[in-house]
Amino acid sequence: MSLITVVSGPENRPLFFLRGAASTYAFGVHPAGLLCHLHWGGPLAPDAALAERYESGGIPFGPELVRIPPFGGRAPLDLLRMEYPTANTGDFREPAVDVLHADGTRGLRLIYVGHRVVAGKPALPGLPATYVESADEAETLEIELRDAREDAPGEPALCVEATLRYTVFAGRDVVVRSARVSNRGARAVTVLRAASASVDFTPRRLDLLTLPGAWARERWVERAPLRAGLHESASRRGASSHQAHPFFALLEPTADEARGEVHGFSLVYSGNHRGGVEVTQTSQARAFLGINPDGFAWRLEPGESFQAPEVVLAYSAEGLGGLSAQYHRLYRERLVRGAWRDRERPVLINNWEATYFNFDADKLAAIARTAGELGIELFVLDDGWFGKRNDDTTSLGDWVVDRKKLPDGLGDLGRRIEAEGLRFGLWFEPEMISADSDLYRAHPDWCLHIPGRDRTEVRQQLVLDFSRREVVEGVYAQVAKILREAPVGYVKWDMNRHLTEVASASLPPERQGEVSHRHILGVYAFAERLAGEFPDLLIEGCSGGGGRYDPGMLHYTPQFWCSDNTDAIARLRIQHGTSIVYPPCTMGAHVSAVPNHQVHRSTPMRTRGDVALAGQFGFELDLTKLDAADLAEAKDLAAQAKATRHLLRHGDLHRLQDPHTGNLTAWMLVSPERDEAVVTVVLSLAEPNWRLPALRLRGLDPGARYRCVHGPAGEWRGDVLLCIGLPLDELKQDFQSLRWHLKRV
Ligand code: DGJ
Repeated sequence: MSLITVVSGPENRPLFFLRGAASTYAFGVHPAGLLCHLHWGGPLAPDAALAERYESGGIPFGPELVRIPPFGGRAPLDLLRMEYPTANTGDFREPAVDVLHADGTRGLRLIYVGHRVVAGKPALPGLPATYVESADEAETLEIELRDAREDAPGEPALCVEATLRYTVFAGRDVVVRSARVSNRGARAVTVLRAASASVDFTPRRLDLLTLPGAWARERWVERAPLRAGLHESASRRGASSHQAHPFFALLEPTADEARGEVHGFSLVYSGNHRGGVEVTQTSQARAFLGINPDGFAWRLEPGESFQAPEVVLAYSAEGLGGLSAQYHRLYRERLVRGAWRDRERPVLINNWEATYFNFDADKLAAIARTAGELGIELFVLDDGWFGKRNDDTTSLGDWVVDRKKLPDGLGDLGRRIEAEGLRFGLWFEPEMISADSDLYRAHPDWCLHIPGRDRTEVRQQLVLDFSRREVVEGVYAQVAKILREAPVGYVKWDMNRHLTEVASASLPPERQGEVSHRHILGVYAFAERLAGEFPDLLIEGCSGGGGRYDPGMLHYTPQFWCSDNTDAIARLRIQHGTSIVYPPCTMGAHVSAVPNHQVHRSTPMRTRGDVALAGQFGFELDLTKLDAADLAEAKDLAAQAKATRHLLRHGDLHRLQDPHTGNLTAWMLVSPERDEAVVTVVLSLAEPNWRLPALRLRGLDPGARYRCVHGPAGEWRGDVLLCIGLPLDELKQDFQSLRWHLKRV
């Protein structure tokens, strides 16, 4: 049975049924020719009779479309559940698409023209996207809609088309949507907004879950009941940002980690985004997500198209945990790409919190030597190796080794690191430029700026204008030269400020509204070139920690530095929130020194290690300063990271205790065969006269026995662990953790 079924309804109007593993997404063509939503949720069999189920009737003050043949019928425009709602033609709710026509008028009425179904999933040129490796993994439906405006007599035709694309993947509960707007008329039009997807729900009570944050406090979970009006999560920062994440979920109010219906919206994009929900006068919820229309205006000459990025809609009737499982599997299998997608990633040591800018080759080699003795596999040289960068006031854009710090160059340092048994990795911040740099002195117009205005600095730096091809190529040439000459196996790609004075010296006035998106397309083009020339390079994304940890960047960078906050207790909420969408194998997590550099808290090495073992594990401290006890602990942690990293790659995550709701945080990873698991528990603050209840596990085989091979000793039946739980009697102190590595006996 195919994944997409097209049923012919009355007057041959089609209905479309997209079949997931345990879900259906359904919509069809209304008698008035509009594309209308029917259902997104549990399995629903294809049936032409569902053509009767579009909203009908009217409400006071409700606009009604009365159309002439071939599309007859009356359409209650404020009630119909629209697949791609338009502006200024009678639907007063949040539009997905709006266009400024050559005659100065705005708005569209999009009418169904045709459709086609193709095997697999076509690529989105220039944009990151989920993909298939063989055509039988998915099916894609393309719907053509056309603005039905009639030409004014004697005027050149005005005609806009929208192409909606829906991909459904075999065995998953995911629908990937995107939209393309094309100018088929004879004069230019300006696209003012083009959301990637919009979904109208039937009236019901829903909670909205978002992942807001700040630097060093990324992706905290917020959940609240929806009320009437508009609720949005948006970035105008030129990046997906620490502050507003391009994801939200709608949950039935009783849904929890393991039960209840949850609908997720995740945008595969790294720039300005806007997503949210409008709850209408009739308690319908319209959910939307796409590029932020604020500041956006894209001019289309006749024949040109604008392609919006894709949004991944996921559904689960098994709570938030079920929703995360959908995203985790898709993103680690068919969003992340390249040689490192399926490889186990190295345990690393990064020198940033160990030395900051203050290092030389001998200092780095000494850290690498200790690292080698501990079994660490990769040494990452962070910021400060280029130009004359002894602090953050200078040299971004000058990707030339600093011979004062590293007199024998990067090649020599790389070979010294390799001699200690580690691979060598290097930090870059390619999109940035310091005013104090040779690049800026040569090309002061290469940064984003508005002539005649002050240039706003953040961290004493400006943003290169990546909407310009020559800028991308100029920086790429410098970065690639280093990567060709030194033995670099890993790159940390950082990005430490957001975009201001968004304007480009190379674009005409009528195209300045395109700069933010063109800039992001330039970032993707840079990533694409890097992946093409250096297919074996492991790239870790970073933006002052997790400021651009989004599906767009993950397409090119299989792991992302989760947060600049390396404190084990603060990380609990950050990693918990991140795991709502992103699989643990994408999450960079390091053990750092105490007192912690961000929150000044001191926690045990074991706790810092257990928390970091929830992600791509590494260290970020001066190993040469550790005492014998900490060195032994660090060696054991590195060994644990290697012994359990296959679970990080392939295991299913279960969040057992939420750090936002109490002093206990717990999660576990279970192998697909259910023969192995790791369980981690952290106590943030101890309470007197309080017994912690046993921790009930999930995902294990009830008929198996499990023995702890590392961690608190014990052997238990699977059903006992599922129904009664692991005893937590040993957990007694503030900031204490326990971690069990369980194997089937
Ligand atoms: C911000 C990153 O998040 C840090 O890990 C570090 O690389 C600094 N930038 C270096 O400037």
